[in-house]
Amino acid sequence: MKIIGPFRQIVTLANLPLRGKLSDHQLEIIENGGILVDAGKVVETTSYKTLMTRYPDAEKDIIAEDRIAMPAFIDAHTHICFGGNRANDFAMRNAGKSYLEIAERGGGIWSSVQHTRAATEEELLKSTLQRIQFLVGLGITTIEIKSGYGLDVENELKMLRVIKKAQAKTKATLVPTCLAAHLKPRDFEGDNSAYLQYILTEILPAVKAENLAKRVDIFVEKTAFLPEESKDFLTKTKNLGFEITVHADQFTPGSSRIAAEVGARSADHLEATIDDDIAFLAESETAAVALPGASLGLGEKFTPARKILDHNGILAIASDWNPGSAPMGNLITQASILAAYEKLSTAEVLAGITLRAAYALGMQDRGTLAKGYKADFVTFKTDNFQNVLYNQGSMSAAGVYIDGEQV
Ligand code: NIG
Ligand code: FE
Repeated sequence: MKIIGPFRQIVTLANLPLRGKLSDHQLEIIENGGILVDAGKVVETTSYKTLMTRYPDAEKDIIAEDRIAMPAFIDAHTHICFGGNRANDFAMRNAGKSYLEIAERGGGIWSSVQHTRAATEEELLKSTLQRIQFLVGLGITTIEIKSGYGLDVENELKMLRVIKKAQAKTKATLVPTCLAAHLKPRDFEGDNSAYLQYILTEILPAVKAENLAKRVDIFVEKTAFLPEESKDFLTKTKNLGFEITVHADQFTPGSSRIAAEVGARSADHLEATIDDDIAFLAESETAAVALPGASLGLGEKFTPARKILDHNGILAIASDWNPGSAPMGNLITQASILAAYEKLSTAEVLAGITLRAAYALGMQDRGTLAKGYKADFVTFKTDNFQNVLYNQGSMSAAGVYIDGEQV
């Protein structure tokens, strides 16, 4: 057993509802607190003095400066395994070209597919690990990572194997998701439905056989897969035993409703969701995942996070870090900016990148610093937790702990 502290404040995020709006006075804040950990789990989070009196024999990890602590953050949506770079896409968009025109000129997702296919496993592993290191440095210790730049059996498996190898080299938890349904690759002979069938019969069984991912995603959009095609695909995928998630309503509405209908774990993006569908999604068990990094990367509007919460929805916030639409990767900056534009409370933002993000990944062993939860937490050198979002990502984490150990 080990006591870590004292901290000026510990924001535990314990006892908060999974859905709906939150105000900051609902946050449990322990002043001069300590965290008692054992075997990687939180035993108790309470006043430091109490812990010191109750557990005199516990090991001590003394924090000798003013710091605050909160649960480590969770990034529930990334595409950080990729080759190449799309800086030119960004420049072209800012010069007025549309996503579609850019794709036609050789940019877009297909260009990342070509670079990712051309990269060796070693190259992909190296760059993926660098991005993981950046995220861990921000205090993010659970990271979802999608495939989706391989788009055939060989290359989707290559990406997922790289993620598995990365897992062996980091203490952070990586959550792999198969996004073979990102786009029909240009070299596939057949229509969309033939490609989705190929995913179901060739890619997913191989993914399952090697136990490379338990989650499957699809990009539903005019330029990718249509809502009707997706519904059938998602239902079949679910029947194969995968958890499902959807890139929904990014530019065109319609697919968040399908995600909720088929019981997807989450519907992500939602920049273009119409009011009726916000209400429908908010009443379902499907989490809404806002991706402000994609709005910032594309210069598009933000996900209607305020409305989702006001309708009692489950709102998580993730980075979508990818080479095209969301190249920044700083979830803390993005979540702080979303808060300013969507008028979110600190509690709503913090819940969106901790316990509610954990729900979006189906991992309810983490996201709060209460008894029995995974002892992953982040500390900042400040005496007031509000400073973390106030600084919009420019305040670095002072310490990042995974299973109660500083990394
Ligand atoms: O989440 N929208 C589709 N997929 C990614 C973009 C991927 C890319 O442009 O490479 C997204 O924004
Ligand atoms: Fe994405």
